[in-house]
Amino acid sequence: MEWNLLVEAAWQAREHAYAPYSEFAVGAALLADDGRVFVGCNVENLSYGLTRCAEQVAVGAAVAAGARKFLGVAVVADSGVPISPCGACRQVLAEFGVPRVLLANRSSRLEFRLEELLPRATAGILDRGE
Ligand code: THU
Repeated sequence: MEWNLLVEAAWQAREHAYAPYSEFAVGAALLADDGRVFVGCNVENLSYGLTRCAEQVAVGAAVAAGARKFLGVAVVADSGVPISPCGACRQVLAEFGVPRVLLANRSSRLEFRLEELLPRATAGILDRGE
């Protein structure tokens, strides 16, 4: 997986983060299997629980453009350690089987399989296997 382009796209998307409450900007970039890249940033709300994470915004943009198969996602923030997706975002990524996840800050990167971040995401639900 060639992550550099995706990481750069995620940093660019982060520039558009709407995060007036947390002041914590996040960017995400999702690579579709046809080569298209879809980006997202966090979009916060005065009613805090309505906040949308960068990953979910990227998935929404991709699905709205007709993409449903993905190779990986990069998530970036200017954090002390590479940012980790929240549980809800892991579930949303699992819905579309995004297999690889790169988490980055300004100085380091960590790569995971989504299966490591959310084991047994679908097992048993609506009688699915793992
Ligand atoms: N956030 C994301 O956008 N993605 C993550 O992976 C973790 C957290 C956002 C949500 C909120 O706007 C801010 O970061 C602080 O939690």
